[in-house]
Amino acid sequence: MNNDFSDEEKSGLYKAIFSRRDVRSHFTSKPIDEKILSQILHAAHHAPSVGFSQPWNFILIKDYEIRKKIKESFETEKMHSSKLVEEPRRTKYLSFKLEGILDSPLNICVTYDPSKFGPFVIGRSSIPETGLYSVCCAVQNLWLAARSEGVGVGWVSILSNNILKNLLELPEHVVPVAYLCLGYVSEFATKPDLESSGWLSRLKLQDVVYYEKWNQKENSSWNTIKELIKTNLDYA
Ligand SMILES: Cc1cc2nc3c(=O)[nH]c(=O)nc-3n(C[C@H](O)[C@H](O)[C@H](O)COP(=O)(O)O)c2cc1C
Repeated sequence: MNNDFSDEEKSGLYKAIFSRRDVRSHFTSKPIDEKILSQILHAAHHAPSVGFSQPWNFILIKDYEIRKKIKESFETEKMHSSKLVEEPRRTKYLSFKLEGILDSPLNICVTYDPSKFGPFVIGRSSIPETGLYSVCCAVQNLWLAARSEGVGVGWVSILSNNILKNLLELPEHVVPVAYLCLGYVSEFATKPDLESSGWLSRLKLQDVVYYEKWNQKENSSWNTIKELIKTNLDYA
């Protein structure tokens, strides 16, 4: 296999990255073609994982009754979390649509099973969180592959993990990492919803890159990249 990507292949990859959105609305009722779903799951399953432990499982959920109960957990948790924020942001927060559990035709719970290929997993002994990081890599693969297929994905974390575990009958040691809502959408927004609504803005890349040490923004051996990253890449 040629190691290089053609310009067309590269632009396809960057298009998926820059146009991926967290989607909570505009789902259509069109079911996800199962061949496409299998392709998206294959992409997720090809993520990197610490010690090649592949610690993920993907629970595919269509059942309306289960989703309804998960939606109830969302409502409860959203109300709880709203108490952590002062007015007027509280009202604004409560007005946001932050899930598509029942609007989307498919939900997927991506879980972490630390016991897979364990207890010794190469690379996990010093930093146990690497298991969870691996599952997040799978989620990102899934998210990008879905975007390239025109399938929207929304991650719902305003949920009780205990309720999720009970409803989905997860063993005690298995952790729900991501609860995802998937479906075709009539549109992908060009910006994050939380940006369009004025909640937060995207930070400048130049403000999050340091040179050699924490918080070091000046270093003469990095001048070229320092200039280059000032240009905002606005894909849309
Ligand atoms: C770990 C994680 C948890 C998230 N939880 C939620 C959530 O509960 N509800 C929601 O609407 N969006 C959730 N999001 C989506 C983020 O709000 C979204 O990624 C961010 O605003 C940037 O927008 P974009 O994904 O469209 O670029 C979550 C994203 C991540 C990575």
